[in-house]
Amino acid sequence: MRHAFSYATALASSEKIRWRVEDVIGGEKRLDFSMPFLPESLARVEPLTFLSPAEQTALNQIRAHEYLSMFGIVEEFILPFVLDHVRPHLSGDDARVRALLQFAGEEAKHIDLFKRFRAEFDQGFGTPCAVIGPADAIGREVLSHDPLAVALVILQIEWMTQRHFEESVRDDRGLDPQFASLLRHHWSEEAQHAKLDTLMVEALAAGRSKDRLLSAVEEYLAIGAFVDQGLATQLELNLASLEAATRRTLTPAERESYRTHQRRAARWTYLGSGMTHPRFVETLEALDPRVAKRVADVAPAFC
Ligand SMILES: [Fe+2]
Ligand SMILES: [Fe+2]
Repeated sequence: MRHAFSYATALASSEKIRWRVEDVIGGEKRLDFSMPFLPESLARVEPLTFLSPAEQTALNQIRAHEYLSMFGIVEEFILPFVLDHVRPHLSGDDARVRALLQFAGEEAKHIDLFKRFRAEFDQGFGTPCAVIGPADAIGREVLSHDPLAVALVILQIEWMTQRHFEESVRDDRGLDPQFASLLRHHWSEEAQHAKLDTLMVEALAAGRSKDRLLSAVEEYLAIGAFVDQGLATQLELNLASLEAATRRTLTPAERESYRTHQRRAARWTYLGSGMTHPRFVETLEALDPRVAKRVADVAPAFC
């Protein structure tokens, strides 16, 4: 393996970075609904030229609400997964136990943070935005798979959040500072999670035959397909929210354009940006080049 990640260094970094939910939201720290929330690289509202600038901002914010909800969903299955991974080996490597418990504690904090943002959004946006769910049913389906497949999904999510923050910095033309702060704070802790999850993947893959590695990748792709189905449902829910928020009914041609552009945008946001992250690919390569190739062959559909 090419990386130099360890439980001890991830724990040390995490203890240096640690922030409180109150440092990110509450008091003066409010969302500004006159501004876009998500980086354009993720929201991709600009190609929808039939929407006015205000309508594009509304769609950007609906996508940001989706983002809060999607992270609410994924953090809720990451938390029990990490706890299940640490529970059987509580004696022995103290740094490992502490680093993984810290990881779980941070995900519990992120669940709380995303919920607080969502509550403020619901209050300020003015139009209810429906989301897929319920989160526990989605989590049960994901967790029913091979733990190595689940760990790969989580690793992809951790690296994906790194990319999302980097893109928000690169793309910060008038991005709401409060939403950018959410992405930044999340990024700072997820950087340690990505390292710890790399170690979890290695532990779960140790001693597996090539066939069992390849079967885990098939299950990882099955979870991806399940997420992708959810994104297709969310696309339609977002369309209904957009029409309600803008008091406008899109023409059939406008809907067609909306679906084409937004389908690609959501696939990139939640699947492609993680599947193609160089550090994720590096882990796949280290498992087995055939594993990496299988994912690389599928990835372009999500980019
Ligand atoms: Fe998180
Ligand atoms: Fe995380």
